[in-house]
Amino acid sequence: MSGIQFVVSEKPEELILAASLIDKRDDNAHPLDHQAFFRARVVILAKTSQGDIVGCAAIKAGEGSVGELGYLVVSPLYRRQGIAQGLTRKRIEVAKSRGISMLFATIRAENTSSRANLLKAGFIFWRDYLSIRGTRNTVGWYYLALEDNIDVEVVMQSLVGDRTPLV
Ligand SMILES: CC(C)(COP(=O)(O)OP(=O)(O)OC[C@H]1O[C@@H](n2cnc3c(N)ncnc32)[C@H](O)[C@@H]1OP(=O)(O)O)[C@@H](O)C(=O)NCCC(=O)NCCS
Repeated sequence: MSGIQFVVSEKPEELILAASLIDKRDDNAHPLDHQAFFRARVVILAKTSQGDIVGCAAIKAGEGSVGELGYLVVSPLYRRQGIAQGLTRKRIEVAKSRGISMLFATIRAENTSSRANLLKAGFIFWRDYLSIRGTRNTVGWYYLALEDNIDVEVVMQSLVGDRTPLV
């Protein structure tokens, strides 16, 4: 991973390049909602020493003390070099600096690489739920408390709403 930098970006021209990287995602994800992506609270880019954008990750649009991770992608030629880990660590660092007290993420059960990336960064598995999009996908919910006094049960329950957990 030598020479890769992890930087917060708000530059429209860079966000457009990041969106095109996400558009090419090969994990069978739903098409990117570009407007939602441009409203993200934080976008982190992985850049080579030449300035090429080879990875992207975000804290999604929203307000308040809970943030949702999303839009993680690393260019296929740059995988297995720790870039997703770097992007995720940077998201955690920026979240703390912006007063976010808890992060969460949802991942389809078959995405073992993304799951491993989250667990390696310290996230904790909460529960599996059936996708509410009617796709029959199983979606795992994960969280990371960034402060000591978080009532995880209350926060997670409020996030999952009336979804029924899979047992
Ligand atoms: C998931 C993804 C972002 C991982 O990027 P990456 O830079 O290759 O990941 P890293 O090198 O930082 O790997 C971090 C850890 O994740 C796990 N991991 C990553 N890729 C993996 C794979 N193909 N198989 C198994 N575990 C994997 C490993 O535990 C790895 O640590 P290790 O290399 O020390 O064993 C990348 O594969 C990708 O862009 N996939 C398509 C988009 C996607 O699935 N996004 C996430 C949607 S929720």
